[in-house]
Amino acid sequence: MKNLDFLHKDSFSIDEYKNMVKSYQDKKHPLGWFDNIYESANGDYTKVFWADLEPSPYLIDWLNKNYVKIKNKKACVIGCGVGDDAQALNDFGFKVTAFDISPTAIELCKNRYPNSKVNFVVADLFNYPNEWFENFDVVYECNTIQVLPDDYRKKARERMSSLISKNGYILVSCRSRKENEKLDEIPKPLTKSEIDEFQTINNLEQQSFLAYDDNQEPRVPHFFAVYKKCR
Ligand SMILES: C[S@@+](CC[C@H](N)C(=O)[O-])C[C@H]1O[C@@H](n2cnc3c(N)ncnc32)[C@H](O)[C@@H]1O
Repeated sequence: MKNLDFLHKDSFSIDEYKNMVKSYQDKKHPLGWFDNIYESANGDYTKVFWADLEPSPYLIDWLNKNYVKIKNKKACVIGCGVGDDAQALNDFGFKVTAFDISPTAIELCKNRYPNSKVNFVVADLFNYPNEWFENFDVVYECNTIQVLPDDYRKKARERMSSLISKNGYILVSCRSRKENEKLDEIPKPLTKSEIDEFQTINNLEQQSFLAYDDNQEPRVPHFFAVYKKCR
């Protein structure tokens, strides 16, 4: 996820963005603002300021090392944005469901990848279709938790983990912050102790954990972690 400095002049300024997010939080509607970001792109997916417009290299690296050993290849991408990671999983042979709470994001994905086999669908992590429960061998989460307020984050981890089938994996990619770094704004990157909470969810075992700074200036700290559902 790019820094807020990358906000497009023709969409939101940093202050407008922060005020917009805060106004939805104050209205106790903290999931209501995402579509505004995608709408402000006016149909051009390249204008979505937080989109990297390429799949995560850490996802690709993990897939290169692991996709062969995953028997059933059903994958789910949470908060899929403009679709790069979902399309990459598709290209590795997965049957992919990619969802986002923003209808405009899903429309951008469908227009961007008109011939894709990915099932791009509007859905809310907190109210996803019953048939998705424990249905996916690989679940990919990138940068959704950090745009949720504190009181949604534990539930978000539980809902994300509930999508994984027995012996399946969840890959979590996010920005990170130090334990003592206080922040009230969105995005609110995850601390190590927060991402470690995935290991307290029933049957999830950490397979790998990486802390790194991305290669853009200014360098932004990130985590990339993989957990396996062991039963
Ligand atoms: C910071 S963006 C990241 C998008 C994409 N994963 C990426 O890395 O570019 C967070 C995404 O999560 C989506 N989102 C937020 N809350 C959600 C929810 N409850 N259910 C599904 N998607 C959600 C937003 O619409 C947005 O597309």
